[in-house]
Amino acid sequence: MSHRVLLCGAGGQLGQELLFTRPGHWECFARDRTALDIADPDQIASALEETGAQWVINAAAFTAVDAAETDRDGAWQGNAVGPGQLAEACYTRGVRLLHISTDFVFDGEQGRPYGPDDVPNPLGVYGHSKLEGERAVLATGGDPLVIRTGWVYSRHGGNFVKTMLRLMAERDALSVVEDQVGTPTWARGLAEACWDLIECKAASGIYHWSDAGVCSWYDFALAIAELAQEQGLLDRSAEITPISSRDYPTPAQRPAYSVLDKSRIRQLLGRPSRHWRMQLKAMLSDLQNKETSN
Ligand SMILES: NC(=O)c1ccc[n+]([C@@H]2O[C@H](COP(=O)([O-])OP(=O)(O)OC[C@H]3O[C@@H](n4cnc5c(N)ncnc54)[C@H](OP(=O)(O)O)[C@@H]3O)[C@@H](O)[C@H]2O)c1
Repeated sequence: MSHRVLLCGAGGQLGQELLFTRPGHWECFARDRTALDIADPDQIASALEETGAQWVINAAAFTAVDAAETDRDGAWQGNAVGPGQLAEACYTRGVRLLHISTDFVFDGEQGRPYGPDDVPNPLGVYGHSKLEGERAVLATGGDPLVIRTGWVYSRHGGNFVKTMLRLMAERDALSVVEDQVGTPTWARGLAEACWDLIECKAASGIYHWSDAGVCSWYDFALAIAELAQEQGLLDRSAEITPISSRDYPTPAQRPAYSVLDKSRIRQLLGRPSRHWRMQLKAMLSDLQNKETSN
């Protein structure tokens, strides 16, 4: 039997990887922002009617963490209002919803990995809007799934890995914050986890997913430099200096610690996520393959 899924936010990092990893028996109706704006209830209704989807995956979001501080309305429409409307439309049609949220719903004050039931306390507009979105989704009824994740990167779009590769190619030296700790997540592994969660008909609720292990942005930058040179993506080395976030002020405050406890999803799927360094290596190969095929 064919299963139909409507994918919102198909043009983003996760959206692209969801398309790449789609199991063959799922028919995926991919809609980027131009085809479906989740802040528009009429567009949501039409897309659900047209596609007859049994599932919706919401990979759409306003993800510009610093820009959210000045574009509060944009962040709220994309991250809170839109997901609430999507959830309502799914609920009234008996469609299941998988929605993506973020480790930035936490304040980073907890000294151990955050579990799905730990108390959120976002520090910035982005985190607030995402928290409001997951609450709206879960309050609607039906049996929605929410996956929180963090530090997402892929060969698509803009992200920390691609920014570092560009800066390392252009500059002799750069500084990277070392007092923010979390776990990088290759969007491909997250996409696979999304499909697995759908396939196993997971119970409604919040799940946490990131790659395995822990690092600072500084550690992550060092690994990007090392692996990119090893794989021939970078032919020079820049000096990378660790700095405090006090020395790199940004409009949005970020949690100092946002490691996620993934035991709930691990038990359900019967497998752990792969270590972030292995995933980074795999993503850099993916990037290299894309460059050589262009
Ligand atoms: N990136 C991270 O580090 C990170 C960390 C933790 C959690 N997450 C969460 O993971 C999910 C996927 O993120 P990602 O990294 O794939 O983000 P992304 O690359 O920025 O993709 C998000 C996509 O959503 C689209 N979009 C924005 N507003 C929309 C709307 N109102 N209607 C329809 N589409 C809209 C964007 O289109 P435009 O580009 O045209 O605006 C973009 O194509 C999001 O829920 C995000 O909050 C991401």
